[in-house]
Amino acid sequence: MRRILVVGAKGMLGRDLMEVLHSSIPGDEVVGWDIEEIDIQKEEDTVTKIEKLRPDIVIHIAAYTDVDGCELNKEKAFAVNAEGTRSVALAASKCHAKMVYLSTDYVFDGDKREPYLENDSPHPLNVYGQSKLKGEQCVQALVKDFLIIRTQWLYGLFGKNFVSSIIRQAREKSTLSIVDDQTGSPTYTVDLAKAVSVLIQFGARGIFHVANSGLCTWCSFGQTILELSGVNRVKVIPISSMELGRPATRPFYSVLGCQKLKEETGLTMRPWSEALKDYLRTLN
Ligand SMILES: NC(=O)c1ccc[n+]([C@@H]2O[C@H](COP(=O)([O-])OP(=O)(O)OC[C@H]3O[C@@H](n4cnc5c(N)ncnc54)[C@H](OP(=O)(O)O)[C@@H]3O)[C@@H](O)[C@H]2O)c1
Repeated sequence: MRRILVVGAKGMLGRDLMEVLHSSIPGDEVVGWDIEEIDIQKEEDTVTKIEKLRPDIVIHIAAYTDVDGCELNKEKAFAVNAEGTRSVALAASKCHAKMVYLSTDYVFDGDKREPYLENDSPHPLNVYGQSKLKGEQCVQALVKDFLIIRTQWLYGLFGKNFVSSIIRQAREKSTLSIVDDQTGSPTYTVDLAKAVSVLIQFGARGIFHVANSGLCTWCSFGQTILELSGVNRVKVIPISSMELGRPATRPFYSVLGCQKLKEETGLTMRPWSEALKDYLRTLN
């Protein structure tokens, strides 16, 4: 029996991951902690608590995920996403545990204009991406058996996300202005959670990209959400990132190539539109 610790178990991905791990790896003990149980900004506490539990695998998905918030509060972004990850990595290495770390497409600058592969050089444009990249580097430096999973554009049942925000805004407004110059792959947290579980079962090591297949802009994603939800009275206006004027710069193109996942585990991620249909069915 292995003991698996999930740090960040009450977040959007965390809740789905806990369920998937309980059902897909029977016999393993799965422990879920979030900020009430462990504040990863406190290095000593974090290391002591994790060492005491002696997990065989640490899945670290806790993060400061507000991309614009990170831009305005660089100190907190690095304290949680970089230093916090360093503390978890330190603890994992002391326990000789495997460490799984969730990272982001925002480690890339988007200049490539074709799907990013695991060995492409990162060059983050915003503080969130910089802090998550620093987290990756801490994991690589401290943990022998590590698995870094980069993903993107997450939505799920248990957190604020783009899909729920579009559905809510469509009830209140007759027009929606949505950014049309950023391209990526929307990813359902249930599909990601299953892929994380598969990668662990295969004993995968190193960096992997995991996202639903296919690509779109936020605007075409928004239009599809409205169509699939049967909303046709809302007018969608495509706008540029510049017009939206968010504090954090996002890459114009950050699609993740997932061939390595398929080659090493046989798993193909389904198209984002199919996953979205499933999510909307579950939501209703
Ligand atoms: N969401 C995306 O589109 C996306 C894209 C690419 C990668 N990722 C990565 O995927 C992972 C999961 O993302 P998510 O969207 O599920 O995140 P989330 O919903 O924001 O969940 C993160 C969890 O971490 C907790 N947390 C924050 N600071 C903490 C601290 N100091 N100590 C302990 N726990 C803390 C949060 O608690 P509070 O809610 O109380 O702060 C929350 O429960 C993250 O590592 C993220 O960087 C996400």
